[in-house]
Amino acid sequence: MGERIVILGGGIIGLASAFECQRRGHQVTILEKTKCGGQATGAAAGMLAPYSEIGEDPDDFFRLCLESLRLYPKWQQDIKDISKQPFEYTNSGSLHCVYHEADLLALETRQRWQGEFGANAEIIAGDQLRRFENELSEDIIAAMYYPEESHLYAPDYAKALEVACRQLGVKICEELEDVQVNSWKDEIELEAKNGQTWSGDRLVICSGAWSKELEDTFDVSIPVYPIRGQICAYDMPVGKVKHIIYTSQGYLVPKANGTLVNGASEDIAGFQTTVTEKGIQRLTNWNKNVLPYLQNEKPFHTWAGLRPATQDGFPLLGKLTGAPQVIFATGHYRNGILLSPVTGHVVADLIDNKQERTPLGLFHPERF
Ligand code: FAD
Ligand code: GLY
Repeated sequence: MGERIVILGGGIIGLASAFECQRRGHQVTILEKTKCGGQATGAAAGMLAPYSEIGEDPDDFFRLCLESLRLYPKWQQDIKDISKQPFEYTNSGSLHCVYHEADLLALETRQRWQGEFGANAEIIAGDQLRRFENELSEDIIAAMYYPEESHLYAPDYAKALEVACRQLGVKICEELEDVQVNSWKDEIELEAKNGQTWSGDRLVICSGAWSKELEDTFDVSIPVYPIRGQICAYDMPVGKVKHIIYTSQGYLVPKANGTLVNGASEDIAGFQTTVTEKGIQRLTNWNKNVLPYLQNEKPFHTWAGLRPATQDGFPLLGKLTGAPQVIFATGHYRNGILLSPVTGHVVADLIDNKQERTPLGLFHPERF
């Protein structure tokens, strides 16, 4: 007989946890303040890019990201099969570009340690690089090609995952405003502003950038902060740019719907998701150094989302000491879309008391 699991927050992390728990036979309810996928999740560029995002640290966080990337082919197919909703998932490969001879050494170092994790990474330089990705600037002297890196269209992925959850029998309650935790030590009870309450055997905290609000409830330090990402999209003929293009100043992701997504700022603006001229200009001004043709183009769409950042850059993932009925799965910062499959599996494994897939010590929710 499955357990009754209440999930606070219907972003990609709450949805992925719900999906995996429900398909293992538990009864899951998601409680969401606004609309599922409406916050950081819906704003994401959708890159599945551990090698590009984590260039220096061969630690358990990198391992977790890599494991998640490798879960994706089956994970996304399972969601499509259950939801019957298509969404873009493209194994485009990526190019991590550098501009100076001095940066080549750093690329070679990356190639060495990432190769030990099975990365199939190749340094491509000069004309060969321009033949590979025609529009690249002549200023780019070389790039690391990561054929494994992929991307998806995050809003459609979240929608399909929500539909798959509903198909499996997950109860999804939205537009609840702030849901509060009334009790968690003996009985788990949560309450919405309208007085509606929910109880369960387990509580999973997936409240993203808002997680710090729960510090008093659990009497534990939860240093999760919103880091705004401003991002934009250009119209682009499909195929003009083929790979994810990653540079130290930003990234460009060619989507199958004929757009080129260009991200993203990292700024502190509280919980505001407004877009500023300065924030978008910083991205667009740089683009002439990446794809010179963009000098004459203007983005047709701009938006922003709040990444759930933690003090040390690692998520909070695990059970509370002395209260295994409470599980934290939050603070996924820049890689929540990438990490959604592995987080779903980790949360379900914690509930099913299965052995850890990847060591979770680094991610302990009470480490601060
Ligand atoms: P969210 O999606 O923010 O969901 C949390 C949910 O909890 C919200 O819906 C919120 O309403 C709800 N909530 C909070 N408090 C309560 C409460 N008290 N009661 C009820 N509900 C509550 N990641 C990648 O892997 N690849 C990328 O390419 C990428 N690009 C990004 C680009 C940008 C511009 C941004 C902003 C982020 C990007 N990210 C990317 C990061 C990724 O979007 C996040 O890590 C991920 O979406 C976090 O998911 P989440 O479910 O934890 O948070
Ligand atoms: N991972 C890309 C971003 O957070 O902007």
